Amino acid sequence: MGAKIISGTEFRKEILDEISTEVNYIKEKHGVVPGLVTILVGENPASVSYVSLKIKTANEIGFKEVQENRPEDISEEDLLALIDKYNRDDTIHGILVQLPLPKHIDEKRVIYAIDPDKDVDGFHPVNVGRLMIGGSEVKFPPCTPAGIQEMIVRAGIKTEGAEVVVVGRSNIVGKPIANMLLQKSPGANATVTVVHTRTRDMAAHCKRADILIVAAGVPGLVKPEWIKPGACVIDVGVNRVGEKISEKTGKKVPILKGDVDFDAAKEIAGAITPVPGGVGPMTITMLMRNTLRSLKFKLGIA
Ligand code: GUN
Repeated sequence: MGAKIISGTEFRKEILDEISTEVNYIKEKHGVVPGLVTILVGENPASVSYVSLKIKTANEIGFKEVQENRPEDISEEDLLALIDKYNRDDTIHGILVQLPLPKHIDEKRVIYAIDPDKDVDGFHPVNVGRLMIGGSEVKFPPCTPAGIQEMIVRAGIKTEGAEVVVVGRSNIVGKPIANMLLQKSPGANATVTVVHTRTRDMAAHCKRADILIVAAGVPGLVKPEWIKPGACVIDVGVNRVGEKISEKTGKKVPILKGDVDFDAAKEIAGAITPVPGGVGPMTITMLMRNTLRSLKFKLGIA
């Protein structure tokens, strides 16, 4: 029996349509649209590709989009000054600084410089704290975990009382998704275990999972025999394992592989996300939703 494939590409379309409808309504009623600034430092190919997609998506759904590209050798002070400019710009509701930044720039200082009420990535400690408290305190859930939770809910997977195992403890995915799924709220109320590089028997934990979320960044880490029959498997890994020539464009494109052996796992799991086309498309979608939320908070209609 093959697993149900949870498609991020399909959910993206559904959610962007919902956002677009709200943008049009707010524009008509309040005369404003969500404003997002994307700040890209240098020319890291993966970052360039992610930021281009963010810009394209924002434009498609009627946002005001401002692009700020800066050279690799920009000074930290100049980058902080740029952030300050948008902290004070009333037409901008979301500030996104694409990571990673060049080595000479202190990433932490940059994240801390963003106004927490415009931090649509949800990386500022104020927003991390809000997320930890949960409920109505939450302003901007970080985009990848928010996308994971949204997919689970929209796919009709029950989280209440479920055994969730998260593989990986990063600040961007593992820790926040674990925290979000244990909250006393709809789409959560799960019993959560986090496993990591120092876990004694990772396989034993994974085998118990009703929902297995893998964000380790190690291609093929999770073996098919670690998956409980019928479980929901969310693969967050986007590992570049080589290059190929795209049939569509004739250009070189990366070959992407997840942290789970998809072909074998889909014969055991009840539902599974593919790579690409699973969690990836949801991350940018949630960035758009957070930017809309930011405007709605400002208007007092969130
Ligand atoms: N680099 C890789 N993923 C992300 C993300 O979600 N936000 C930002 N700002 N940079 C990233």
